[in-house]
Amino acid sequence: MAFLDIRKLRKTYGTAVALDGIDLSVKEGEFVTLLGPSGSGKTTLLMSIAGFTRPEEGGIVVDGRDITDMDPEDRDFGLVFQGYALFPHLSVADNIAFPLKVRKWEKARITARVEEMLTLVGLEDYASRKPRQLSGGQQQRVAIARALSYGPRILLLDEPLSALDRNLRESMQRELKRLHQETGVTFIFVTHDQEEAYAMSDRIAVFQSGRIVQVGEPREIYTHPKSLFVAGFLGGNNIFKASYSLADETISFFGSTYPAPPHFDASLAGKDGEIIGWIRPEDISISDGDGDGIRFEARVIDISFAGAAEKLAVIAPDGQEVGLTLPMEATRDLKRGATVTCLVKPQNLGFLAPET
Ligand SMILES: Nc1ncnc2c1ncn2[C@@H]1O[C@H](COP(=O)(O)OP(=O)(O)OP(=O)(O)O)[C@@H](O)[C@H]1O
Ligand SMILES: [Mg+2]
Repeated sequence: MAFLDIRKLRKTYGTAVALDGIDLSVKEGEFVTLLGPSGSGKTTLLMSIAGFTRPEEGGIVVDGRDITDMDPEDRDFGLVFQGYALFPHLSVADNIAFPLKVRKWEKARITARVEEMLTLVGLEDYASRKPRQLSGGQQQRVAIARALSYGPRILLLDEPLSALDRNLRESMQRELKRLHQETGVTFIFVTHDQEEAYAMSDRIAVFQSGRIVQVGEPREIYTHPKSLFVAGFLGGNNIFKASYSLADETISFFGSTYPAPPHFDASLAGKDGEIIGWIRPEDISISDGDGDGIRFEARVIDISFAGAAEKLAVIAPDGQEVGLTLPMEATRDLKRGATVTCLVKPQNLGFLAPET
């Protein structure tokens, strides 16, 4: 049985539907990420779990107990927000002690617990500092320590890393994963950054317009997107138009016709054979003559440096634009306007029904 069970949750603001029938089951100790574009309902769901937002329909059950109408204080979940919201006039130690004082813990127990939390987040030497004397990452660690201090069973995190620069963000991601493993607390984490979601989560719930459109492990979502939205929003995939011919079992796109690959599911095709294809930019290579697979000629319209790799934009003969990510040595002699032969392994082609 699920530890956190969310059933048919619905929340509207006037005519805006923030949550449109959300179902989600979370296991105890799991790290689940809510991933989706701005306005898709991630914060509304988190606030509903915390008890600050009351859904109009549906229910939330934790460990067999219905908490749908329970006050936030009685739910007792840890909360970490984007802006950290530490008390500026309190020291680091007093910030972490604050929820414990509210809960009327004994003094000696508070002191011991604060020390334990400082060690957990690696801030033993900062106990007497004020928040403004800390870096952004250190402040965020204090916020996490404060949210975990009283031992909540669920920690709710709303884009807690989005204000940090890239390096700090990656080290905080590792830090959060370690904290998750060491504490065994159930984490519900919100982000709109797909790489962050992949890096952190046991499972990802993808949001679109107030609904969860796919739930699964990162690898599963990456390799088997169930809809055009998930394939495009997550992966940054190339999405292209193709057509399937039932008579000769071929698929045409980019100005050529190829045998349908073995994994192709003909039932996805529309009534005139129309189908949507997708390919990852890193799954297309440039051929210097040899190589089996799907080949098409294309004209280079842009080359841009992207750190460890090079990004190439090309136009296929049928006018569709395709993006490639290539190792730098593969693009050394390429110029804009050049014609290249692109090569794709048939197994790396994905297909979706046109109406998804
Ligand atoms: N208090 C409110 N009053 C009116 N509308 C609201 C309120 N809170 C949220 N909404 C609307 O509900 C929808 C979902 O908002 P929500 O904040 O949950 O999105 P989100 O996925 O967290 O987006 P973001 O990534 O931008 O934080 C949006 O259309 C938003 O405008
Ligand atoms: Mg939000």
